[in-house]
Amino acid sequence: MPSCKTSKVQNTAPAITYTKNVKTIIDENSATKCPSEEKKAGGISLTNYLSVKEESTNGLLIAAIQHAENAKPMPKKSPQLDTATIQVIVDWVNAGAME
Ligand code: HEM
Repeated sequence: MPSCKTSKVQNTAPAITYTKNVKTIIDENSATKCPSEEKKAGGISLTNYLSVKEESTNGLLIAAIQHAENAKPMPKKSPQLDTATIQVIVDWVNAGAME
């Protein structure tokens, strides 16, 4: 007889969430580290879930960290985030940008 418990564990991938996976990345690399510049950041705020989610919905978040031609390369004045870190944020957005 199949075990429901076992199949449930096998089919459950850990969900990527803002709180668990994304917040730390943003906090450690974001404009909050240079407040005087943040004021000039065209109203961009990355200090809470809703504002980060908004930047993901309009496409600028991913474009900026991937250094896409149509966006400002971020983090500003720092090297591009490493590939694995960028992928975490891309996966988070693709999975619905959960809190
Ligand atoms: C992972 C880190 C960061 C992310 C995800 C991020 C994200 C963004 C996004 C999505 C924009 C709008 C881009 C556009 O309009 O094309 C932006 C603009 C901006 N950000 Fe960042 N940012 C980060 C780090 C930083 C840091 C460290 C600084 C300052 C040292 C900074 C300063 C600015 C400024 C001044 C703007 C306005 C546009 C410009 O003047 O280049 N950001 N950021």
